[in-house]
Amino acid sequence: MSRDTATAEVAAAPTVAELRRSLAAWRRAGEAVALVPTMGALHAGHLALVARARTQARRVVASIFVNPTQFGPGEDLTRYPRDPTGDRCKLAEAGCDLAFMPTVAEMYPDGFVARIDPGPLAATLEGRFRPGHFAGVATIVAKLLLQALPDVAVFGEKDYQQLLIIRRVARDLDIPVQIEGVPTVRESDGLALSSRNAYLTADERARAPLLHRTLRDVARRHAGGDAAAAGAGTRALLAAGFAKVDYLEVRDAETLDAPHAARPARVLAAAWLGKTRLIDNIALVP
Ligand code: PAF
Repeated sequence: MSRDTATAEVAAAPTVAELRRSLAAWRRAGEAVALVPTMGALHAGHLALVARARTQARRVVASIFVNPTQFGPGEDLTRYPRDPTGDRCKLAEAGCDLAFMPTVAEMYPDGFVARIDPGPLAATLEGRFRPGHFAGVATIVAKLLLQALPDVAVFGEKDYQQLLIIRRVARDLDIPVQIEGVPTVRESDGLALSSRNAYLTADERARAPLLHRTLRDVARRHAGGDAAAAGAGTRALLAAGFAKVDYLEVRDAETLDAPHAARPARVLAAAWLGKTRLIDNIALVP
C-alpha cells in the first residue's frame, strides 16, 4: 500500500515472505527503504523515529514484535503493553508504509538456536543487570535487518547502549545498512518517553522526572571536574524515593569505557521507582 492510499490502519505483513514481497516491489521501482524496529505500544518517541525514517527513504517499514529473547526470567514479557490496532493507526497517521508484525513462531521457528554474542559492549551497564538481554536484541535486530535489507534503520538514543551495540553488530557482520540514532523524546517535565512509563503510579510519575534532572546535574558537575558527581547523583535519587539505582555512571560515549576528558562522554542510569525500572542517558560534551 502506498502512502497516498493510506487508510486508518497501515497495511500489515505478518510473515517474512509478505514483507519481502512489498519490499521487492519498492525496490523494483527504485525506492529506498527505511526500517524502524519497535516492540509496539507506540508513543511520540517511536513516531519521531518514523519521522526521521521518512527523511531518509521513500518507503518506511516499522516492525512491531515483542521479542521474548531479550526479556530475562522475572521481567515484564507477559505484561509488556500491546496495542496492535492503535499502533497501526498511529503508523498510518505518521506516514509509515507497512507494519511488519510477525508472530513468535515466525521469528523463532521450532529448533531455532542461533544467537549473536555482541561482545564486551554488552557486558557492562545494562548488561550487568540484564544478562542475555543484548544477545536477544542483537539477534532479533540482525534478523530484522537481514529480512528487510533496508537502506537505513532508525533507533532511539533512549536505549543508548543498544544503539552502540546495533551499530557494532551491523558493522561486524557486514550488514549493508546505515544505522541512524534519534535523540530521546521527553515529556515537558523531562521524563524520557517509554512504553514502560505506563506502569508508573501517579506518585511515581510525579517523582520520575528527577532521573533526567539528576543526569543533567551529574553532567554539569562532572564537566566541572567533580569526580564524585555520579555518586552524589545516586544518593540524590535514593533520597528522593527511588527504590534502587542499578547504575548511574559517566562513560565514554563510543566505547562505554571510563570517560576521558578530551572525548565525548555520556551519563547513563537505570533506577527503580517501585516495581518500574527506568533508564535514561544524556550527552556530556567536553
Ligand atoms: O528498542 C526496542 O524497542 C527493541 O529493543 C528493539 C530494537 C525493537 C529490538 O526488539
